[in-house]
Amino acid sequence: MAELYNPNSLPADFVKFYGGTEDSVKIFSSPARINIIGEHIDYNGGKVFPAAINRYLYVAIRKRNDTKVVYNDLKFPGKYEFDINDDFKYAKENGYANYLNGILSQMKEKGFKFDCGFEILMVSNVPAAGGISSSSALECGFAYAVSETFGFGIDRVEIAKLGQMSEHNFMNVNCGIMDQFIISTGKKNTAIVLDCNTLEYEYVPLELGDYRFVVMNTNKQRRLADSKYNERRSQCEEALKILQDGGVKISALCELSPEQLENLKALIKDELLVRRAKHCVYENQRVKDAVSALKAGNLEKLGKLLNESHESLKNDYEVTGIELDTLAETAQKQDGCIGARMTGAGFGGCGIALVHKDKVEQFVENVQTEYKKVVGYEASFFDCESGDGVSHFN
Ligand code: GLA
Repeated sequence: MAELYNPNSLPADFVKFYGGTEDSVKIFSSPARINIIGEHIDYNGGKVFPAAINRYLYVAIRKRNDTKVVYNDLKFPGKYEFDINDDFKYAKENGYANYLNGILSQMKEKGFKFDCGFEILMVSNVPAAGGISSSSALECGFAYAVSETFGFGIDRVEIAKLGQMSEHNFMNVNCGIMDQFIISTGKKNTAIVLDCNTLEYEYVPLELGDYRFVVMNTNKQRRLADSKYNERRSQCEEALKILQDGGVKISALCELSPEQLENLKALIKDELLVRRAKHCVYENQRVKDAVSALKAGNLEKLGKLLNESHESLKNDYEVTGIELDTLAETAQKQDGCIGARMTGAGFGGCGIALVHKDKVEQFVENVQTEYKKVVGYEASFFDCESGDGVSHFN
C-alpha cells in the first residue's frame, strides 16, 4: 500500500487548488469497513456484522459565491465542474464524480435546496475498488459533508440510505445497505450487528485481546457493476419466489432457519439455486453464532465461523476465485491465525484474517510468498483497528 496521506495537510492543499484562506475550509472523514461475517445476505433480509476501520477518505469542502460545483481529488488528478442546477445523470466519462453527482441527485429528489454551489478537494487512504468499500466511503463522506455544510442535518441512517439509493438509481448497482450503514453509523472499538430486514442495530464491543484483523488485498481490481453481484442477487430472488409460490410464507430467504431450509429445499429443485439459498440461510446463522462468540470472548469459535463462511462463499455462493481462495486458505494454515475469509462482495477485493499480534509479521511474509507463487503478483496487507463513522475532522 502506498504511503498514507496526512489529512492535516488538507486545508493547505485545498487553498493551493482554490485560493482563499485555510480557516474557511471544512474537513470531514469517512472510514473504510470490514465485514467480520454475514456476506451477501444484507439483500436477503439477513444479519451482518461489519466494523468501520481506521482507514479514511477525507473530504474538504467550501461553499462558493456562484452556483458552480467543482470536484478535485489529490490522487485522481483532473477537475470536474458542474452547476448545482444541473439535472445530474450518470456519464461514464465523469469517473468518480458520478458517485458525488448520484448523491446530489438523490438529495435534490428528496427536496433539499441548495442556495449556492461549492468546491471539494478529496483524498483517500482507502484502496480504490479494493473491497473495503471505497465507494461507500466516498458516497457517505460526501453526503455528510454536504449535509453539514448546507445545514441539512441529515441523520446517519438517512445518509446511509441516500448512499444506497444513489447506487441503485444512479450507479445501477443493486447493493444492500450494509456498507453505507456501517460507514455512516460506525463507532470506534465496536462492530455493529445489523438486522437488514428491520434496520435494527446494536453496537458490540470489538474486544479482540491479543488478536488483530489483518486486511489482505488481492490487488485484483473489480467494480461491483462489472461483477456478478446483480446476478447473485437475482438468483436469490428466484429461489425466494419458488418458495413463496410453493406456499412458504416468508418475505426474505434469511427468515428461514437452517433446519427449515433443509425441509423445504426439495421445492427449489434447481441445484444451483439450492446452493445459493443454503449459503444465505447458514451464513445468517453463523452471524448470530459469531456475535454470541465475540460477546463471550470466544475468539477461537469466531475464527472457526470465519473459515466456514469462506468455504460457503467459495463452494455454494461462488464469489471467491483463485486470488481470495489462496489468501484465505493460506492464511488459515498459518501459526497464530485463528480464522480467515473473504470480506465484501468478493470476485477479488479483500480478505480478512484474525491473527495474534506477535505473529502478524511472519504471517504476512508467509501468505505473501504463497500468494505470489500461485497468483503471480503481490497482495498487500495491513492490520487495522476499528474506526469511527463519518465525522467532522476539523
Ligand atoms: C457489497 C455490497 C453490500 C453487500 C456485500 C456482500 O459490499 O455493497 O451491500 O451485499 O457486497 O456482503
